[in-house]
Formats: sequence, structure tokens, C-alpha cells
Amino acid sequence: MDRRAFLKKGMGSATAAAIILSVKDGFANALETLDRSESTNWRDEYLLDPGVTYFNHGSIGTMPKAVHAARRKYLDICETNPWFYIWNKPWLEPLKNTREKVAQFLNCQADEIVFNHNTTEGFNLLASGLKLSPNDEVLFSSLNHSGASQCWFHYAPEKGYQVRQFEIPLNEVKHLSVADVVELYAREIRENTRVLVLPHIDNTVGLLHPVKEISKMAREKGVRYIAVDGAQSVGMMPVDLQALDVDFYAMSPHKWLQSPKGTGLLYLRKSVQADVKPFWVTWGQKSWKDTVRIFEDYGTRNWPEVLTLAHAVEFQEKLTIDRTTEMRRNLREYLLLSVREHPKLQWQSPLDGELNCSLYSLEITGADSRELASKLFQENGIVVRPFHSANANMLRLSPNFYNTKAEIDHFLKSIDLG
Ligand SMILES: Cc1ncc(COP(=O)(O)O)c(C=O)c1O
Repeated sequence: MDRRAFLKKGMGSATAAAIILSVKDGFANALETLDRSESTNWRDEYLLDPGVTYFNHGSIGTMPKAVHAARRKYLDICETNPWFYIWNKPWLEPLKNTREKVAQFLNCQADEIVFNHNTTEGFNLLASGLKLSPNDEVLFSSLNHSGASQCWFHYAPEKGYQVRQFEIPLNEVKHLSVADVVELYAREIRENTRVLVLPHIDNTVGLLHPVKEISKMAREKGVRYIAVDGAQSVGMMPVDLQALDVDFYAMSPHKWLQSPKGTGLLYLRKSVQADVKPFWVTWGQKSWKDTVRIFEDYGTRNWPEVLTLAHAVEFQEKLTIDRTTEMRRNLREYLLLSVREHPKLQWQSPLDGELNCSLYSLEITGADSRELASKLFQENGIVVRPFHSANANMLRLSPNFYNTKAEIDHFLKSIDLG
């Protein structure tokens, strides 16, 4: 049978599906052989440069070797016949499975999950497409990331809604309690506040917002939509979307979930999907009408990267998030204890056990945080994120579970030498 006849008969699809399935099997074997004992050096499961101390998962994560290997295989398969693999049947079933896998991981329905590129895109969809009236207010705090804020300011004049940002002073966050955080939001909500936007974890001091409590309070005060920025939470902590009771949850799994760069997720609660106008408009308008895919880019997509998301989720499940959360917590406590008496470093992140996480900042005395961060990288291979403004001169650390106490010691020693 020649090649054309082979594809026409549909055998090409069957063969391709089997090839794709073999990636899945290969990955399952890799997970099975993963040594999960106490003595495992987890860093060996990653491609990180041996000379680098990577404390910046809050900016961007790194994929486990096993996940990266699956990704590479998908990319290789795709290059054997791009038209066939990007636009034809072989991807459909695995994509459906990927959507289901992600939905199960986040405790929502598969038809509430949008495959996009990042959190910023998720918020751009809302700011441009959520049906709001001229008197409606969109409210958020100064802890919001620009990716979840700028789009509202940008679209407000055209769409006619109001936008208000209120201040949460960085130096007050350290001593807040859950009740304090809820109150900070409660006192800002007005009669016309229709949308409340908040980060699950902000990117500056790592305040783990009590989303469930804020959502309950806001709904009681009449807020219609709760939109959460989950860029820093998914993969760092368990996320149960049903329990949180939110309407929108935008994610960047390329940070803590360790998926390929540019694989984003957006949760759109089923009951509010009709309130959002899509901004991708082409042939998909008809094909995907009344499905969550209407909110996705239905031009050419990099499906191998999207399929890899399922493996990133599986890797997390295999490690168990409780265990990795515990490992990250131990590192945090180790650093917190070590800097207590430090002459140059002051802890700036929440101390309350319910409000802290694996993203925290240290105020620096005697140096410019931007210069110090650059020096730490150039001279010691340490990757941290500086924050420098009128009221902050901080270094942010966002270690993952495979970072070690020895790396924290290396950081502290390098600061002392600096
Ligand atoms: C809290 C928060 N929101 C949004 C973003 C934007 O993420 P992305 O560039 O993946 O859209 C970031 C990135 O660091 C972030 O930390």
C-alpha cells in the first residue's frame, strides 16, 4: 500500500495514536523507576546547571527530566509530519485526556479548562470580554501582579467599567492574620464592586491569600465575579477550585507545575462562561460554539507542549504535593531561623502559618538589591529576584522542594561576603 492510500484508509491515525500512546507508556515507566526514598537527590531529576543555585521558581520553573523527555518525544513525532500531527485525529484523544487530567487535578470539570499560554493572557480575556456595565467596578489591591492589573486599566476606557486599586503596604504584610487580610478586602468593597481580582499568592512577598474566606465575604457583600491569579499557586500547593468557590482562576503552570514554557491554563466556571466574550475569532467560532474551546486560540497551536502538561501533572501526583509542600516548608523555616539575627537581612513575608508559602522576601540593608542579585548570580551562581522601589529593597527567594539547606547556607555565606 502506498503512503497516500495508507493515510486515506485511516491506518495512519491508528498508527499515530499508538506512537503517541507509547510516549505515555515510556513516561509511566520512568515514573515507576523514580527513587522516592528519603535519601533521593531530587536535583538529579532535573537538567539544572550544576553551578547554579536556583531560587527563582516564582519567575520560571524547570521541567523534570522525565517530563522533558516526554515533551521531546512529542515534538519529534510532530516533526515527522507536522500537518498530520497538528491538524488531524491523533492529537484529539490525548488532548481530551490532558484536559480531563488537569481538571481532575484542580477539582473542576474538563469543560471549564482553557488551554492558553499564561496568566496574563487569561486576564486579558476577562478584561476585554467580561460583560460589564459602565457603573461596574473592578477592584484589586497593590499586591496584584501587573499581568492581572494592566489589562483592566487598558480596556476600561473602551469598555466603560471602572477600575480601582487599593494599597496594601508591603511592610505590614508580615504581621497579618487571616482575619486581617479578609478585612483589608472587605473594607474596600463598595456597592458597585462587581469584580474582585486577587492573587492566590502575590509575587512580591508571597502572601497566601485566604481565597475561600475572601470569596465568601465578597459574595455576601454583593460582588458578582471573583477572579483569582493562580500564577504562583498551582504546583506549589494543592488547589481545589470547587472548595475555593471562585469564577475565574488564571494559571502559569510553567512556574511551579514545571510544564513547558508557554503552557497556560484558565479555569472559567461553567455558569459564567456565557458572560465572557472570546477574543480569538476565526473559524473556531462555529466549530467550538458552546464549548470552553471557544476561549482558546484556535489558530495553529503547539500541541506537543500542551500534551506535556498531563505529564507535569502526573509527576506532581507521583511525588505527592503534601510531601513536596513539607520539603519547601522546611527550607523556609531554616532560612527564617538563620536570618533572625542577621545584620543585613530582614524577613518581609507573612509569619502566620496559614498565610505563608515557598515564596518570600528579605529586605536588604547596605546594598542595592538589584546590584546584589546580579553579583550573587555572576559570582556565586545564585538566582534570586530583586525588588527595588521607593518602599522596597528586597531579594525574593522561591525555592522548590529539591533545593537544599546547603544551598540556603551558600546564599547566606555569599551575602556575608558581599
Ligand atoms: C502573581 C503573578 N501573576 C501573573 C504573572 C504573570 O505570569 P505570566 O508571565 O506567565 O503570564 C506572574 C509572573 O511572575 C506572577 O507572579
